[in-house]
Amino acid sequence: MPPDDAMVDEFDTYARWTADAVAELGDDHALPAACRGSGSPAALDWLAGRMGLRRGTRLLDSGAGVGGPAEHVARGLGVVPVLAEPMEGACRAAARLFDNPVVVGDGAALPFPDGAFDAVWSLGVLCTVDDKVALLAELARVVVPGGPVGLLVFERRVEHLADQPEGNSFPTSAELAAHLERAGLVVRDETWVEDLPATPRDWTRAVEEVERVIARDHGDDEGFRVAQRQSDQVGHLMGDGLVAGRLLVVTTPV
Ligand SMILES: C[S@@+](CC[C@H](N)C(=O)[O-])C[C@H]1O[C@@H](n2cnc3c(N)ncnc32)[C@H](O)[C@@H]1O
Repeated sequence: MPPDDAMVDEFDTYARWTADAVAELGDDHALPAACRGSGSPAALDWLAGRMGLRRGTRLLDSGAGVGGPAEHVARGLGVVPVLAEPMEGACRAAARLFDNPVVVGDGAALPFPDGAFDAVWSLGVLCTVDDKVALLAELARVVVPGGPVGLLVFERRVEHLADQPEGNSFPTSAELAAHLERAGLVVRDETWVEDLPATPRDWTRAVEEVERVIARDHGDDEGFRVAQRQSDQVGHLMGDGLVAGRLLVVTTPV
C-alpha cells in the first residue's frame, strides 16, 4: 500500500529538511535530530543493554528513520548496524548524516535472508503500519534463531482515541500481546519509557535548534504544517497519558 501523504511529509520530506538543517548547524546536532522519533538516549541504552548489544553485533534497524538510534549504538558500543527504511528521503538523510549502510525497504518484506542479523530492532514503527504481524514476523525471520528483537511501541491506554495522526494506529497492550503471539515472538523484558531518565537538556536543545531552522526555511510549506500537526498530535496524546512508549525485548522461542 502506498504511504499516506501525511506520513510522507512527516517521515520523508521532514527527514530531508533535518539533514539540511544539520549541515548548517554542525555535526553535533546530527545524533539528537536523527533520534527525534525514538526519544531518549536512556531508552536506547536500556534496549541495547537488555538485548546484549556489543562490539561487532550485526544489528538491523527496521524503519530506521534518519538513523540516529543505530548511530548511537554504533558510536557507543561498536555495534555494526544496517538500516532499512521505506522512505527514500529518510534513507538519503541517514546516508548524509552517518556512515552506516542504508537500504530502502518495507519492514514487511525485508531484502535479507533468514537469520542475517545477530539482533534487530524497530523503534516507533509498529504504530505506523496496518499489518503489525507482518512487520513483526519479518523481524523474527531475519534475526538468528533466539536472537533479540528490540521494540519501542507507542501503546494506546484507552479504548478509543478521538484524534490521532493520519496513518497511525496505536495498539493496546492486549492487542500487542496478540500480535506478538501470532508472529511467534515471546516477551523477555519490558519497561515504560516514562520510567527511564528523561532526555538530557543538551539533546532537546539541539533538536529545538534544528526545528527552528526547518521552521525558518519551510514554515510556509504545506508539508511543514502537516508534519508539525502529526508530531504535535502524538505529543498531546502522550502528554495526556492516552498513549505511552513501551520498550520490549522479544525473541523467537528457543
Ligand atoms: C516515528 S518514526 C521512527 C524512526 C526511527 N525508528 C527512530 O526511532 O528515530 C517511524 C518510522 O517508521 C517508518 N515506517 C513506516 N512504514 C514502515 C514500514 N512499512 N516498514 C518499515 N518502516 C516503516 C517511517 O518511514 C518512519 O521512518
